[in-house]
This record gives sequence, structure tokens and C-alpha cells, in this order.
Amino acid sequence: MIDQTGLYQLQDLEPTAAEFATAVSAGLSATPRTLPCKFFYDAAGSVLFDRICDLPEYYLTRTECRILARRAGEIAALLAPYGSLVEFGAGSASKVGLVLSKIQRPLVYVPVDISRSHLLAGAAILARSFPRLRIAPICADYTQPFELPEIAAGMAGGAAGFFPGSTIGNFAPDEATAFLARARQILGAGALMIVGADLQKDQATLHAAYNDAAGVTAAFNLNLLRRINRELGGNFDLSGFEHAARWNPGAGRVEMHLVSLRRQSVRIGEERFDFAAGETIHTENSHKYTVEGFGAMARAAGFEPVECWTDEAGLFSVHAIRAR
Ligand code: TRP
Repeated sequence: MIDQTGLYQLQDLEPTAAEFATAVSAGLSATPRTLPCKFFYDAAGSVLFDRICDLPEYYLTRTECRILARRAGEIAALLAPYGSLVEFGAGSASKVGLVLSKIQRPLVYVPVDISRSHLLAGAAILARSFPRLRIAPICADYTQPFELPEIAAGMAGGAAGFFPGSTIGNFAPDEATAFLARARQILGAGALMIVGADLQKDQATLHAAYNDAAGVTAAFNLNLLRRINRELGGNFDLSGFEHAARWNPGAGRVEMHLVSLRRQSVRIGEERFDFAAGETIHTENSHKYTVEGFGAMARAAGFEPVECWTDEAGLFSVHAIRAR
């Protein structure tokens, strides 16, 4: 079934308010406190994230897009045998077009994203730019099991995967390995995956990328508290918390935190959480890889590295890996 915007019917597995409430309660009760990063992406959070991608300090998006644009022909050639392309965490789906512009044959594109508004807006734009593309969107947390839409499963050649943005770095290494192994199950044996991974580099560059001067990253991080207030009846005072991104050298990752600026109590529905001054809520990790380290992880998940492209400055890497 195709709607007015040229999309196949949406498969809607968006997490419920109850799932959000359970995750928030569990995370804020844990020591140290955490909040799951997938809930960053409500409509406002998704818009803020798109603004992060345009920041001068946030080299990731623009560097990856440059690599994808330069290598689009090679990537399209590697994708030639496959009938469908599944994008995990498609967001506004602004990168895949760089590759699609080199693909003329019939292809089913399956964008999967947790933010329904962003997913549908991105898919509608792509449908206009690529009128022959068959788009079958899925609103879901892509870390949870989902099935390929019939239209994709029915295509000869099987499915390939696209996972740009260094989102892989937001998983701990063992979770990232498990994610790739699950993606291999969804896509099938022989599947090719194109994965973006941010590279290890000097601390100053990393610090700036996650502590931008305009404060957009801070607003993005704090938006999680605003969302809890709105959707779960919380009373976080946003001026009582501050964004902090810290490099953890042992773990090779940037850690995103929300720091309580004073001793304070917060209510969420019936629950109360007491914060000490300086106590943090850990909201996200962004792991940085080496080309070799990423390759070893792909192997552990059942893939063979096929190709790896980087920029001249060695800031970012795009990998092609194939499921054994
Ligand atoms: N995947 C992005 C990254 O690791 C997400 C991100 C960018 C992010 N800036 C952030 C997450 C700030 C939380 C807070 O680069």
C-alpha cells in the first residue's frame, strides 16, 4: 500500500510512554544514575540534533558526508547485488541520498528510526528526490527485534545495511558487537553493511565537538529533562543542571553527563529523586575507534571487513563489512 507521499505503509513500533517511564525510573534509581540515550530524539530533540550536525565544531557529519560523496560510486557498486537497503536510525535520512544518487536500478529503502516525525519527514523528502525508490519506513527502536517489510523481503538479492553517523559509538563495545550480530540476523547471510565510525584523535578536537560554543549540544542534552517533565509529569528545574562532556581515556570515549548544580529533589509522577551537588546523570557515551579496532569488532560480530575509507585528516572512517 502506498500513501500520497509515495511511501509504503509505516510499520509503527514506537516505544510507549510506559516504556519511557520505566526506563527513566530505572536509570535514575541506578548508581551512578543514567538515562537511556534513545529518548533524546523526540521532535524537539531531533531538530536540535540536526543543528548539532551543522555546528562548526561538530566535524563528524560534514566529514562523513564528504567521504560518502567521494566514495558514492564505489559504495553503489558494492551495493549492486542487493535488493533493499535498511538504514538503522535514519533520522532525517540526509546522508543516504549521497549514495542513492549513484543507484539507478529498482531498490527498496527501509529507514528505521525512533522519532516518527523525523522519520516521515525525511522519507517524504527522499521520495520527492528519488521518485523510483520504494520506501518502506519503520518507526522503531532499532536495537529491538523487527522484521523487514514484505516488499523488502520479497526483493531478489537480499538486504544491505546502512548505519552512518558513528551511532555505533554510542554503544559500549560489547553492545556494538551484539548490535552488529543482530543486524546480520535481520539482513541475512552475505549482507553488506556500510558503517560510519568516528576515529580516535586529540582531546581538544573531541572536547570542542561535544561542548560547542553556541550551546546547542547543552540544549540537546537538557532537552531530555524537559521531555521527562512534559511526558512523565516531572519537575526538573533545567537551570539546576548543566551539560558536561568528558573524555574517558581508559574507555576511549566521550561521556555526556547532566550535572546537578546543587543539592535538590526532583519529582517524577509519584517518585522522588534526591541529587547531591555535583552528582551527574550519565546520558550517553560516544566511543572512538581505530580502523583496526573497528575491524576486529566487525569480525567478532560475524562480518569480514571489505573496505575502509577515511578523510585526509584521518578524522572519520566509513567501513564496508560483509556478513559471513
Ligand atoms: N551519535 C552522536 C555522537 O556520538 C550523538 C551526539 C552528538 C550526542 N552530540 C551529543 C549525544 C551530545 C548526546 C549529547 O556524536
